[in-house]
Amino acid sequence: MRVTLRQLQTFEAVARLKSFSRAAQEMHVSQPTVSKQIKLLQDEVGLALIEQFGKKLFLTDAGKLLYQTCGDWVKTWDRFEQNIANMKGMTTGQLRIATVTTTKYFLPKLMGQFCHTYPGVDARLEILNRERVMERLERNEDDVYIMGVPPDNPNILAHPFLANSLMLIAPLDHPLAKKRSIPLQEIAKEPFIIREPGSGTRVQIERLFNEFNLPLNIRMEMGSNEAIKQAVAGGLGLSILSSSTLIHEQKANELAILDVQGFPIQRYWYWVQHKDKNLSLIAQTFYDFLLEHLDQFRT
Ligand code: PGA
Repeated sequence: MRVTLRQLQTFEAVARLKSFSRAAQEMHVSQPTVSKQIKLLQDEVGLALIEQFGKKLFLTDAGKLLYQTCGDWVKTWDRFEQNIANMKGMTTGQLRIATVTTTKYFLPKLMGQFCHTYPGVDARLEILNRERVMERLERNEDDVYIMGVPPDNPNILAHPFLANSLMLIAPLDHPLAKKRSIPLQEIAKEPFIIREPGSGTRVQIERLFNEFNLPLNIRMEMGSNEAIKQAVAGGLGLSILSSSTLIHEQKANELAILDVQGFPIQRYWYWVQHKDKNLSLIAQTFYDFLLEHLDQFRT
């Protein structure tokens, strides 16, 4: 069969992402180009590889077989290209990072500064909650992952690089706002607004309340740190958020940071990668850049 590398890479992306448009986006080509590559590949193989019902894509048996065959091979080829780029000392090419939503207060800005310094870098930043980032980590879809609660897994490396303290927030006129050294037991009587299941912030709050054997009185769940801050300011309840989300409110004095025993809880942001991941020169350069430019984000 006269199958080209490009066709296999395109097929691998479509099969993995289950979408022609997302594959086109990832590969920086148009959707018709992706469709054409898949058609040429199917003609060459002589069997249908992909079926489409409505908007959903499915792999045929031949497609599944090809995906098994070429999945690892495409990754091996990517590694080869990466090694060659490293040997040439190149800081051009792709940098793929998946990160939790709460890092949006510093990571996009840092990446912007990085891309300005290294204009040859094509940076991709996927911003998702922790659970979705963990799924990407399991599938080894990115160069690196940034999160506050790394997995406890010997095959995963996690380097802490920035303090990420958790703070207990309340509306400015809350009766507890003026109290000092409040016991967590007293706080636990209050209604809480917390992030959605799957959020790393939520995982940390639940672990804390479990540790002290206290019930968590959830009044409302919200999928956004910004919405939570507004709801707290409006008097709906208390919340616990990362200090990274509170830089503006602390300066503008818009929310009360409660003085609770054990708070602020000192945590970190972690650079997370597979232990055996062959980091590209770009990713290594970004790591050094990150460490050098963190001062602007310390809280
Ligand atoms: P989240 O993650 O944005 O999913 O809440 C935050 C964290 O991992 O600390």
